[in-house]
Amino acid sequence: MIVVAGSVSQKLASRLAKELKSELIIPETKRFPDGEIYIRLPGEVKQKHVLVVQSTCAPQNDNLMELLFMLDLTKNLGARKVTAVVPYLAYARQDKRFKPGEAVSIKTVSKLIARAGADELITVDVHESKSKRDFSIPLRNLTAMPLLGICLKKMKLKNPVVLGGDQGSENRAQIVASKMGADADYLEKRRLTPTKVVMTPKSLDVRGRDVVIVDDIISTGGTVVEATKILKRQGARKVYAACTHAVLAGGAEKNLAAAGVVKIIATDTIEKKVSLVSVAPLIAHSLG
Ligand code: R5P
Repeated sequence: MIVVAGSVSQKLASRLAKELKSELIIPETKRFPDGEIYIRLPGEVKQKHVLVVQSTCAPQNDNLMELLFMLDLTKNLGARKVTAVVPYLAYARQDKRFKPGEAVSIKTVSKLIARAGADELITVDVHESKSKRDFSIPLRNLTAMPLLGICLKKMKLKNPVVLGGDQGSENRAQIVASKMGADADYLEKRRLTPTKVVMTPKSLDVRGRDVVIVDDIISTGGTVVEATKILKRQGARKVYAACTHAVLAGGAEKNLAAAGVVKIIATDTIEKKVSLVSVAPLIAHSLG
């Protein structure tokens, strides 16, 4: 196997190559004066199984284009099999037509990845597990939740409770909690009036306890900020936010800190300061 490192996933690609004891190729990339991307692969991939590792985080379209160039290039240079490893898959949230006339963006992205030369796609905690139906190539959707749980366990939190940001995240919270030996619950939204909604843990009392809010993505941080304010009012001791994808758009980090989140624990699907957990062993394991 050969690992090709996309420009935004270089640390993860190098960790993955180490896990797999494989060769790592770092493509030569540059920008033309008009903004177009140039890519050259300084290595031999003929007859090899090539893993092209590139998240499609911001700037999504540039990173997607670079991924497509690398997939097409490796196939064109004679790779026997090309696996697209896209730990953070952009546009996954637009997986249906919410309003008439909208683009189902993930379907377009999936067609591009397959047509560019990928024989299969590996991703992590893709927003909707239903996304499989949008792909014409095999899709492996891995979950980083057990790894987040293992990391959190080492932090020795006080009488911890793990909360999913909503009912859809309950399962994620349970996986994390089981690795920590902690309780799990989720935040339930209750509508008090047509304009007033409150969020509260479905059944557990958080008073005096450390709370971990778990989600697949922290994007603007709005969900976690709201939840944190409520949990603090309910007497939570310390609030932590754990997620797979630290999108952290705009002033998310600042807003989370201001709301009372003491620490963000994320993976390296998007390489940030808060990427305390690597998904490299997870991806390596899935490749068997
Ligand atoms: C929603 O379904 C997702 O699981 C996340 O809760 C959401 O994308 C987080 O977004 P934000 O950080 O902007 O509230």
